[in-house]
Amino acid sequence: MRIFLTGANGQLGRELQKRLQGTEYLATDVQELDITDEAAVATMIGQYRPDAVIHGAAWTQVDAAEEKVDLAYKVNAIGTQNIAMACRVCGAKMVYISTDYVFDGTLGRAYTEFDSPNPLSVYGKSKYAGEMLARQATDRLFTLRTAWLYGDGPNFVRTMLKLGQEREELQVVNDQHGCPTSTVDLAEAVLRILETNRYGTYNVVNSGVSSWYGFAKKIFELTGNMKVKLTPVTTEQFVRPAPRPAYSPLDTRLLQLALGWGPRVWDVALSDYLQPYKN
Ligand SMILES: NC(=O)c1ccc[n+]([C@@H]2O[C@H](COP(=O)([O-])OP(=O)(O)OC[C@H]3O[C@@H](n4cnc5c(N)ncnc54)[C@H](OP(=O)(O)O)[C@@H]3O)[C@@H](O)[C@H]2O)c1
Repeated sequence: MRIFLTGANGQLGRELQKRLQGTEYLATDVQELDITDEAAVATMIGQYRPDAVIHGAAWTQVDAAEEKVDLAYKVNAIGTQNIAMACRVCGAKMVYISTDYVFDGTLGRAYTEFDSPNPLSVYGKSKYAGEMLARQATDRLFTLRTAWLYGDGPNFVRTMLKLGQEREELQVVNDQHGCPTSTVDLAEAVLRILETNRYGTYNVVNSGVSSWYGFAKKIFELTGNMKVKLTPVTTEQFVRPAPRPAYSPLDTRLLQLALGWGPRVWDVALSDYLQPYKN
C-alpha cells in the first residue's frame, strides 16, 4: 500500500514513520506541504497517487487556539478539507485523527461514536469542523478519535518528567478524566484499520480512565521519582485559557469488534514508554 503522510514530524507522524520503514510512503510536514494551500495539496497528492493518506497534521495548541481562531480553523478544518478533496479525486482512503475534545464531558460515562459532539474549545470546534468537512468531501474516510496523546514530541509525560526534576511540588488537575494514549497503539490502529474497508468513525484510546493527577502520579511511580510532591487541584484552581471536558473517556468497543484487536491498558502502555526513564 502506497501511503502519503501529513504531520510526519508530529508525535503520531514519527511513530508512523518508524512503522513504515521498508514500505512505500511519502512523509510530509509543513516544510514540504502546507495543508492550508489547496493547490499544493491537490498537486502533491495527485502526483504521488497514494492508496491511502494518513492525515496527522493539525494545529494542536489547545490554549493558543482560543486567540488564534482563524489559524486553528484554517489548519484543522480547511486544511483537512483540502486533504479530503485530494483523496476523493485520486480515490485514496483517508485517515483523519480527531479528538475527545469534540465532546463537552458532561455525559457521565465513556463516549461512544454515536454520542453527540458539543466541543467547548476553539481547538475542539475546529477539529470537529474538520471531521464534518472531510465526511462531506470523501466517502473512503476513517475518522479516529484519540485523546491525551504521548509519543516522540512535546506532551504531558515529558512536561511532568521535566518539571519533576526542576520543582519540589507540582499541582495537577484532578477533576478532568480521560484516556492517556500512546502513539504506539494509535499508529497500530491506523495501520490496521487501513487494511479494511470499514469506513466510519472510531474511538482509539488506551483502555482505562485516569485524571491528569492520576496520570502524573503513575508517571512518577513508574520512573521511581518519588521525591516530587504532587498536589491534586481543581480546574477552577488551575485556570487555563481553553475550557476542557471534565469527563471524556472514549469507549473502544466498536474498534475492537471491527478489528478483532484493541489498544493496551493505559498504564501498561505508559510503562513501556517510560522504559528509558526508569531508575
Ligand atoms: N496531542 C494530543 O494530545 C492529541 C489528542 C487528541 C487528538 N490529537 C490529534 O492527533 C493528531 C496527531 O497529534 P500529534 O500530537 O501527533 O500532533 P503534533 O505533534 O502537534 O503534530 C502535528 C504536526 O502537524 C504540523 N502542522 C501544523 N500546521 C501544519 C500545516 N499548516 N501544514 C502541515 N503540517 C502542519 C505540525 O507542525 P508544527 O509543530 O510546526 O506546528 C506538527 O508537526 C492531530 O490531528 C491531533 O489533533 C492529538
